[in-house]
Amino acid sequence: MSRLVVVSNRVTRASGGATRAGGLAVGLLGALREAKGLWFGWSGEIAEDPSDQPQLATSGGIAYATVDLSPQDYAEYYNGFSNAALWPLFHYRLDLTDFHRAYYRGYRRVNARFARILRDLLRPDDLIWVHDYHLIPLAEELRRLGVRNRMGFFLHTPFPSHQVMVALPNHREIVVAMSAYDVVGFQTATDLRTFTHYIMFETRGTFTDKGLIRAFGHTFYAGKFPIGIDVGNIESMAGSAPNPTEVERLKGSLWDRHLIIGVDRLDYSKGLVQRFKAFDLFLAENKEMRGKVVLMQIAPRSREDVTQYSEIRQALEAEAGRINGAYAEFDWAPIRYLNRGFSRSMLTSFFRHARVGLVTPLRDGMNMVAKEYIAAQNPEDPGVLILSRFAGAAEQLPSALIVNPYDEEQVAATLGRALEMPRKERQARWKAAMDVVRRSDIDAWRGSFLRVLRRAPFST
Ligand code: G6P
Repeated sequence: MSRLVVVSNRVTRASGGATRAGGLAVGLLGALREAKGLWFGWSGEIAEDPSDQPQLATSGGIAYATVDLSPQDYAEYYNGFSNAALWPLFHYRLDLTDFHRAYYRGYRRVNARFARILRDLLRPDDLIWVHDYHLIPLAEELRRLGVRNRMGFFLHTPFPSHQVMVALPNHREIVVAMSAYDVVGFQTATDLRTFTHYIMFETRGTFTDKGLIRAFGHTFYAGKFPIGIDVGNIESMAGSAPNPTEVERLKGSLWDRHLIIGVDRLDYSKGLVQRFKAFDLFLAENKEMRGKVVLMQIAPRSREDVTQYSEIRQALEAEAGRINGAYAEFDWAPIRYLNRGFSRSMLTSFFRHARVGLVTPLRDGMNMVAKEYIAAQNPEDPGVLILSRFAGAAEQLPSALIVNPYDEEQVAATLGRALEMPRKERQARWKAAMDVVRRSDIDAWRGSFLRVLRRAPFST
């Protein structure tokens, strides 16, 4: 059986303590553990003159090979092209997209360097699975070096609509680079559709009825592979209350108030300012709910060297302060705003105790928190998921209360509806969502992607 080689910018050790809120790491660890694979990527360190000899390690049955980035690479490839150009663009934020040719050169330089280093670690039969927008050109660079292995790419973020994509000066080069993979995977039918629209309107590409695309001289498969979670793991953490002291403290601090929970990386794509405003509106319109409900927003800081991220942080702090100042009593504050991460087991316990999971991104590839919230619930007395229509998860979870996060009045009214929902309805909605979360879990995701990749190369 072929070895699995996973490549991603961020590499997370299996033995890591407090787990980050981002979905990519969570998804991949489970996948690699079973496949006893190799995970290659950035060490997370910046070094003045980084070595091209990767740091090798083995942990939890997974082999790791990581390399440092130079300060210039960190600035141009990571903060620059990846997080100040591609990230906002892929999340439909043209207003925040900051494009410079130097960023693009840095992006290509790092991808070419990663390809050179990875080539020496490869075995002829390895299946190579590359993840996310940081490393789109990796296959093209590897092919240039003569690597003939099967290569797949999975985009964890949305793929933007054609008219948004073409605002990127190098849009064509990015899509040409995607065509160098054998398999290109997206989270949702919407992303697959926007990608095929690009191929239709911007290239002379052709399509076969088997999902194959022929474009730029390559034949590749493009498909939808919605990422899932490790359901069994979340269920067992939720059922066994692994942090009794903290959970008791949380319950004690709430008295009998309802908990509404939000857990997101501190990112402008998550719609946190709009979420706080909707909660403000809810309190303004429902005086009887004041003192009876708490919104706990966990938002670990992220990408702080990128200007747009320090701006969103300030905006949120101001908003939380304003709302707490307006409504708080000496024994109650409506918002608990925490800029730190918690272990997965703690988050799972928090989810189980929250009557409402508030997941309202302005745009999101999938949003694993939505699925984790569902998996953590007590089937006898489940909470209610309020979910943005712009999260990839909304395509799979129509039984959640689906909202438009830009419509603060609708979100406020939906909060009221969720808090009042009778147990029978909560159970029925939860069960429908849980069936999907269970069926399309992390194993199903990995299995379906790798099944297609194993069939490569394709020809028309
Ligand atoms: C999102 C992206 C991931 C990324 C994660 C955390 O989930 O899709 O690729 O790793 O955010 O962001 P960071 O910049 O800290 O790696």
